[in-house]
Amino acid sequence: MTGPVAGPVTGPAPLRVGVVGVGMMGADHAVRLAGRAANATLVAVADPDVDRAERLASSFEGVRAFADPLELVADDGVDAVVIASPGFVHEEQVLACIAAGKHALCEKPLTMDAESSLRVVEAERAAGRHLVQVGFMRRFDPEYVAMKAMLDAGDLGRLLLVHNVHRNKTVPDGFLSEMIVRDSLVHEVDVCRWLFGEEIVEITVHSPAPTSEAADGVVDPQVAVFRMAGGGMATSEVFVKCGVGYEVRCEATGEHGNATVGLGSGVLVRSANRWGGSIPDDFRVRFAQAYDAEVQSWVDATRRGEVTGPTAWDGYAATVVCEAGMESLRTGSPMKVSLA
Ligand SMILES: NC(=O)c1ccc[n+]([C@@H]2O[C@H](COP(=O)([O-])OP(=O)(O)OC[C@H]3O[C@@H](n4cnc5c(N)ncnc54)[C@H](O)[C@@H]3O)[C@@H](O)[C@H]2O)c1
Repeated sequence: MTGPVAGPVTGPAPLRVGVVGVGMMGADHAVRLAGRAANATLVAVADPDVDRAERLASSFEGVRAFADPLELVADDGVDAVVIASPGFVHEEQVLACIAAGKHALCEKPLTMDAESSLRVVEAERAAGRHLVQVGFMRRFDPEYVAMKAMLDAGDLGRLLLVHNVHRNKTVPDGFLSEMIVRDSLVHEVDVCRWLFGEEIVEITVHSPAPTSEAADGVVDPQVAVFRMAGGGMATSEVFVKCGVGYEVRCEATGEHGNATVGLGSGVLVRSANRWGGSIPDDFRVRFAQAYDAEVQSWVDATRRGEVTGPTAWDGYAATVVCEAGMESLRTGSPMKVSLA
C-alpha cells in the first residue's frame, strides 16, 4: 500500500492536529493539544456523535467538527491525527492515516486482534516509513521512565521479576472478562516488553474467585503470569471493580535490588483522627503527566517526520499477547506466544 507522503512539518508552523473520537480520552487529548502542547494546534475533532463533537469544538477557537472521522483524516488542513475512538474502529482509521501519509497517535489497543494489527504493520512497511505511535503512555510517566533508566544503566543488575498491580475504582457492567485482558492488561503487557527489552513468550491468565461486585460471569480480578524470552517472569493483578480508586504499581526486581513505581500518595493529610494521602479516581489524574509527555513527544517527533514512541510493531506484539491471554482465560492453560 502506498499513498501520498506528507513531508515533515518543520519551521515555525505548529502541527495541525485532528482528534478522532472525543469521548473521555479524546476530549482529554483535545484539551491537552489546544492548551498545553507546544508547537501543536488543535484544528478539528470528529465523532459520529456529532453533537458531542460540535460541543467540544465550540469550546475552542477555530476548531472544526466532523461527523465522519475519515473526512477529518483526509482533510488538507489536518497534518496529523490522534485516534481515541473505540478499539474496533482503530484499524480502518489508522490505515486511512497511513494511506494519507499522516502520522497517527492511536490509543491502545492498536486493533482488536493479531491479524488486523499485523495489517497495520504491513501497511506501514509498504508505505516505507513509520507513521503510527500507540498510546502506551506509561512509557512517558516520570516514575516508569526513571525505573527504565535505572534498569538500562544496570543499577539493579539483570532484571529477573516484575510485579504489576492495576486497579480501577469501577467500570461499566459491559466491561467483560476479555476486555480486562485486551483493554487493561495490555498496558502491563507493553510495560513488561519495554522494561525487559524482550518479547513475552508465554502467558497464563488465572481466574481467582470474583468480587461480588463483578457482573454475572465476569472474571474480576484476574492474575496474569508472563514468561519472558530471556527466562524472566512477571505477574499482573488486574482488578477493575476494586472500589478504592485508580491504583497502578510496578515493582521490578533485579539481581542487585528492586525499584517500585506508583507508591506516591500526594500530600500527606492528618485530619478527623485519620492520616494519609489520596488515590485518584481515574487514569486521567494518575497519568496526567504521562499523557502530556506522550503527546508532546509525539508532536515533536511528528514535526521531524519520525516515530520515537511505541510503534505499530509494539501495538501488534501487545495484541498478540492479549489474544493468547484471552485464550488462556477461556481454557485455564498457559498459552505460547509467537509473533509473525
Ligand atoms: N491510554 C489510556 O490510559 C486509556 C484510557 C482509557 C481509554 N483508552 C482508549 O481510548 C479509546 C477511547 O476510549 P474512551 O474511554 O475515551 O471511550 P468513550 O466511550 O468515552 O469515547 C469513545 C468516543 O468515540 C466515539 N466513536 C464511536 N464510534 C466512532 C468512530 N467510528 N469514529 C470515531 N469516534 C467514534 C464515541 O461516540 C465516543 O465519543 C479506546 O481505544 C480506549 O481503549 C486509553
